[in-house]
Amino acid sequence: MKIKRIGVMTTGGDAPGMNAAIRAVVRSARYRGLEVVGIERGYAGLIDGSMKILDVRSVSGIINKGGTILHTVRSKEFRQKIYRKRAYEHLREHKIDGLVVIGGDGSLHGSLSMYKESGIPCIVIPATIDNDLPKTDYTIGFDTAVNTAVDAIDKIRDTATSHERVFIVEVMGREHGFLALEVGLVSGAEVIMIPEIKTNIKKVIKSLEDGRRRGKSSSIIVTAEGAGNPNSIADEISKNTKMDVRVTILGHIQRGGTPSAFSRMLACKFGAEAVRLLCEGRYNRMVGIVGKTIVSFPIADVVKGKKSINYSDYNLAQIFAI
Ligand code: F6P
Repeated sequence: MKIKRIGVMTTGGDAPGMNAAIRAVVRSARYRGLEVVGIERGYAGLIDGSMKILDVRSVSGIINKGGTILHTVRSKEFRQKIYRKRAYEHLREHKIDGLVVIGGDGSLHGSLSMYKESGIPCIVIPATIDNDLPKTDYTIGFDTAVNTAVDAIDKIRDTATSHERVFIVEVMGREHGFLALEVGLVSGAEVIMIPEIKTNIKKVIKSLEDGRRRGKSSSIIVTAEGAGNPNSIADEISKNTKMDVRVTILGHIQRGGTPSAFSRMLACKFGAEAVRLLCEGRYNRMVGIVGKTIVSFPIADVVKGKKSINYSDYNLAQIFAI
C-alpha cells in the first residue's frame, strides 16, 4: 500500500520536545510528498474527529517550545472498543492511511489495539519525561526534565547549606526511578530513593548521621514519586534525629519548558525515522535510540519488554555521597 496521507498526534503526559517531533514528522512527510493531518488531544481527538491539515508553515517556530501544539489528553474512552471504532471511522473519513503517535506507554498500547483492530499502520515515537519505555535508551523529554530538576536542586542546595538542613526532593517518574536516579547522581544527592530498590529508612537515617559526623552540615535526598510518601520519610528522620528536614515536591515544573538540545535532537531523528518507516511499509514499530544508533522494534515486543535501571549508577551515587 502506498501511503499518501498520515496523521500525527501526541498522547499521555506532555514532554519537552514533542513539538520538535511534530515539526520533524510534518517536514519529513513533505519531503517525501505526503500530506499530514494533525489530530488534536490524542486519542480523544481521534474519537471525536478533531483534525486539521498541518502544512509546512504550521510547524514554524515550535522546535524550541515545550508542551504540544496538538494538545494531549489521557483518554479513558479509547480503552473501550466502541469508542475505538468511532476513531477508525474518522481515520477512514479523513483518508488517513498511516499514523505517527508521539507519547509514552499509552501510545504503545493504543497503537497496538488500532493496528490489530483496524489495520491502520502505526509508528510510535517515544516521548515521556519518565524514560520508562523498553528498547530505547532515551525518550524525548527525559533529558530536559533531568536538567530542570537538577537546576531546581542546585537552588535548593543553597538553602540546605545555609540552614544546615536535610531536603527531600521528590521528582516524577510514575512507578519507576529512571528520572530520580539520573537527577540524584548528577545533582550530588546524598541519598536516592527509587521504587526499584527497597528503602530501609533506618539505613538512610544512619547514613545521614554518619555524614554529619564526617562534617556534612546538610544533605539532599532525591526520591522518586513511586518510592513512598516524602512527608512520612521526613517525619521519620525528624523523629529520630535532631536534623531540620524540609520536603519539596518538584511536580509539573519538570514537564514544561524549552526542550534541551538532546531532546530536540531525538525529536528530529525519531520524526524522520517514523516517516521513513511508514513509507517503506515497516509498520507497527516504535523508534528509539540505542547508543548512538536510531533503531526500531515491533510495538508488540516493546510492550512485552522491561527496562531495567542502571544499578551501577546507583552504586556510583552512593560512593560519591561520602
Ligand atoms: O508520565 C509523565 C508523568 O509526568 C509522570 O511522571 C507522572 O506520574 C504523571 O505523568 C502525572 O500525570 P498528570 O499530569 O496526568 O497528573
